[in-house]
Amino acid sequence: MSLNCLVYVSLANQEMSDNHLQSMLKKAREKNEKLSITGMLLYRDGFFMQALEGELKDIEDLFNTISQDQRHRDVLLIYKKPIQQRGFPDWTMGFNKIDEECLDSIDGYTNFLKNPTPEFFKQKASEAEAVLDQFKHQLFF
Ligand SMILES: Cc1cc2nc3c(=O)[nH]c(=O)nc-3n(C[C@H](O)[C@H](O)[C@H](O)COP(=O)(O)O)c2cc1C
Repeated sequence: MSLNCLVYVSLANQEMSDNHLQSMLKKAREKNEKLSITGMLLYRDGFFMQALEGELKDIEDLFNTISQDQRHRDVLLIYKKPIQQRGFPDWTMGFNKIDEECLDSIDGYTNFLKNPTPEFFKQKASEAEAVLDQFKHQLFF
């Protein structure tokens, strides 16, 4: 057993409607459940951030598949590291579509989340972790 967490950011290739996001999530959750993968996906105005937790080989394989998905581009690995326990044990893939109202309720991270860039998160993996942590308690089915 080697439990790991992988976090990446990417840019959507197309407008992601709520229907589109929901059907993508439905399929993702079915597959994640089979693989015992948990995590969360944040979507904000064409920008994705996702955390994948599970066996190292499983999350690496899934990340490879996800990286080739035509629905997004500029997939950038922020970090991959061993973890003692899951941060999202109850979520086969928690989701939050971050809107303005939601942003205003998040202390501290408002500015860069309003205008996210992959480069920012690459430089500051700790900030990415802090963002994920903030949203951990605001996930939706
Ligand atoms: C932003 C984004 C996040 C995704 N997250 C997952 C996920 O958590 N789990 C998953 O199985 N597929 C996810 N997918 C879909 C995969 O890219 C892929 O379509 C899916 O795993 C089915 O692959 P397969 O047909 O090779 O089994 C995601 C796609 C995108 C664009």
